[in-house]
Amino acid sequence: MTPLACFCTEYYGVFLLNAQAPALRALARPVNAGYNPRMNTIDLRSDTVTWPTPEMRQAMADAPVGDDVYGDDPTVNELETSSARLVGKEAALFVPSGTFGNQLALFTWCPHGSEIILGEDCHIIQHEAGGAAAIAGVQTRTIPAPSGLLDPAAVQARVRTDDIHHPVTSLICIENAHSSGRVVPLAAMDVLQSVARKNSLPVHLDGARLFNAATALGVSAAQVAARADSVMFCLSKGLCAPVGSMLAGPKSFVDTARRKRKIMGGGMRQAGILAAAGLLALREMTLRLGEDHANATFMAKELAKIPGVSLEASTVEINMVFFRMAGVAKKPELGLLIVSGLAKQGILINPPSDGVFRFVTHYWIDRERSARVVAAFAQVVSSLPA
Ligand SMILES: Cc1ncc(COP(=O)(O)O)c(C=O)c1O
Repeated sequence: MTPLACFCTEYYGVFLLNAQAPALRALARPVNAGYNPRMNTIDLRSDTVTWPTPEMRQAMADAPVGDDVYGDDPTVNELETSSARLVGKEAALFVPSGTFGNQLALFTWCPHGSEIILGEDCHIIQHEAGGAAAIAGVQTRTIPAPSGLLDPAAVQARVRTDDIHHPVTSLICIENAHSSGRVVPLAAMDVLQSVARKNSLPVHLDGARLFNAATALGVSAAQVAARADSVMFCLSKGLCAPVGSMLAGPKSFVDTARRKRKIMGGGMRQAGILAAAGLLALREMTLRLGEDHANATFMAKELAKIPGVSLEASTVEINMVFFRMAGVAKKPELGLLIVSGLAKQGILINPPSDGVFRFVTHYWIDRERSARVVAAFAQVVSSLPA
């Protein structure tokens, strides 16, 4: 059996331990060494690519666990209590992913056949595979919401009146930080919340990057989450935990969500192993996101000096830089040449979308690596065909 073929069998671990080749032996290092085969790669595709820190891996190995479906996993219980406290809600629930948390919020708030109001480019609409229709069975009423800002008058105009022909409006969803890299100001959230209250509607906040938004606004996560009734935030992404998100809100909401999580197959057993990384994400990683934002700002300023580069926004608000490179929108093949040119230097980026590149910084991209990215980009674009 060749080493390559071994990777395709369930026995590859055993094989590695017996392997003669030192390079393959290295792959069998203990997990808590923080080893990652991409350690030397600079991965700017997203902050979802972060791998857990060595401390997280150690905490996971050491975590006290129980059966969380029985409610007796102490590490999950601690994570849920700490999360609720941190975002200023009565209770919180550990869920497998951000998508799961958003969909569970809809499933919990919304009667089957009701309607929700949300931005047309938000994650729930664009990237959750139609889950709103498939799981909660809701109809979505979308509004153009550039940068995540929902116009309160447009929301009000879409709240259904009492007419047997209409679906019943059951929820307003917002996203902060928005996936465009913009942060919705608290004042804008306030106005939206007052529209929701006037119509007795709950607000769900997709806060996949809640702590990035709070860092950018210079307020606590609880102050952002106070503008919504429920909030989902991710422990993975910039917070580096390998898996998991939290759904927080009033106790009665979380009690119902716990039952509905079971329906969705999200009742996990010894999940304390994952929650242990989540606790470190909350305690340590939430405090350092400003570094990622500063590195993104640095990268934006340096990239802007390269001839042909134009930034999409005058300021970088979180850990995302959006920019155009002259000629790429008209000739997509140039974009692909940039992607492959950077890949040859160990730098991973996504192909541009409609001519726009997005670089995302995170824990594993420090200032020195940020500078390397800029230098490599300048070198690659200078060698593009005219
Ligand atoms: C704004 C937003 N919401 C929700 C999610 C979903 O998170 P997950 O990938 O954990 O399902 C993401 C993921 O990138 C996101 O950017």
